[in-house]
Amino acid sequence: MHIPSFKTGIPPLDYALPEGLPKGATVVITGEPGSGKTVLVSNMAWNVLRGGGSVVYVNFDDSPDAIIELFESFNWNIKEYISKGVFGIIDCFTFRLGALKGKYEGVIGYEDLSDTDALIHDIHTSVRKASEDIKLVIIDSINELMFRLEMTQVLEVVKKIRALISKGLGATVIVTLHISTDSLQELAAHLEYLVDGFIVTRFEPNMRELGIPLKQLMVRKMRGLPTNSFWIPYVITGQGVTSVDPKKLAILVQQKLKEAESFKVSVTGNKGEG
Ligand SMILES: Nc1ncnc2c1ncn2[C@@H]1O[C@H](COP(=O)(O)OP(=O)(O)O)[C@@H](O)[C@H]1O
Ligand SMILES: [Mg+2]
Repeated sequence: MHIPSFKTGIPPLDYALPEGLPKGATVVITGEPGSGKTVLVSNMAWNVLRGGGSVVYVNFDDSPDAIIELFESFNWNIKEYISKGVFGIIDCFTFRLGALKGKYEGVIGYEDLSDTDALIHDIHTSVRKASEDIKLVIIDSINELMFRLEMTQVLEVVKKIRALISKGLGATVIVTLHISTDSLQELAAHLEYLVDGFIVTRFEPNMRELGIPLKQLMVRKMRGLPTNSFWIPYVITGQGVTSVDPKKLAILVQQKLKEAESFKVSVTGNKGEG
């Protein structure tokens, strides 16, 4: 069976997904805070825009200005796509600012999270207007919903989004989830069988012991498409998400091992084994 798909243009992710991401799928990206989920989804958005697609970005974690600043920090001129009408933000963050709320560039919708059906309706209206071949929806992150709703309600929101936006309109929806507590681990486990794709990010544990924050991603599931399901290292540079240079990593590891050894000597006072 051939499923319509598109390449993300992000080397480590394209390696994990040789045929790319499926159109009309809902995909969850989980991982610890700081593992690069927001940069990853923003890079996906940028590549879709450059390829002639459209993007709706639902922000829960940060203000619309901060999202635009993130794109600009990589020299991705997002404002060009805002003015073309192919990039829009559904702002689910600034309601808490009350009277301090300003006017934000790129915002096409505004929700205060008291009514998740209204939010889904907003996303649906924006995506339905899009005529581009590739339609991407980013939701970053759904943790905010976990503060407000029961887990079963959060799952119901994701089910509705999958049915209405992914299956209904053929858009690829990427939902991020920060995992930091056991209850979120449980949500992730439920989501994994509910959605079409599931990608995990983390810091490699052995490297972390050495003080090297090596990021890795693994595609655990992608319905209908082939995957290379093992941990793939990645790095965030000024150009966005890219592959790790193994030579540079080896040099860094050697340096850290030397540092660890000289630290041991300074603590124990003896060289070599012991
Ligand atoms: N313009 C940039 N250039 C290089 N690295 C960046 C840039 N912007 C963010 N980062 C890196 O991205 C990481 C944060 O990732 P983020 O996507 O916010 O994590 P998460 O969403 O998983 O919590 C940080 O380590 C930061 O150094
Ligand atoms: Mg984030």
